Amino acid sequence: MITLKINGKEHQVDVDPSMPLLWVIRDIIGYTGTKFGCGKGLCGACMVLMDGTAVNSCQMPVSAMQGREIITIEGETENLQALQKSWAELNVPQCGFCQSGQLITSTAMLNNNPNPSEEDINSNMSRNICRCGTYTRIKGAIKHCVE
Ligand code: FES
Repeated sequence: MITLKINGKEHQVDVDPSMPLLWVIRDIIGYTGTKFGCGKGLCGACMVLMDGTAVNSCQMPVSAMQGREIITIEGETENLQALQKSWAELNVPQCGFCQSGQLITSTAMLNNNPNPSEEDINSNMSRNICRCGTYTRIKGAIKHCVE
């Protein structure tokens, strides 16, 4: 049995310890806001916060998550909620598939750096791919959030 703390709640899961966290979050626990894109750590669709830092949940074995504080897009943190509000105000999403990952990466950035420069935003957000090309609106929403 593996004990996970996700969005402030404890969950006990009986799974293969090598199963990626992404599958446990989506298929066992039922938080489906975290998305599967590439499964190879390249696209950022599966980002979650682990102790405040963004990680690719498709690459993290669930056994390594014990004792960690996991926050998904369904979680409630001050920075995540402020960014979600900003995203809505600026109508950022197009198809929306990558946006939970984008929001998690930007939340982690603001957790470490409440006033990111243009360069900080570009380098942090380079971990997330958007096939609709909403990059300009994403950057605008981050700036709007920290104004
Ligand atoms: Fe994990 Fe693409 S699904 S990085």
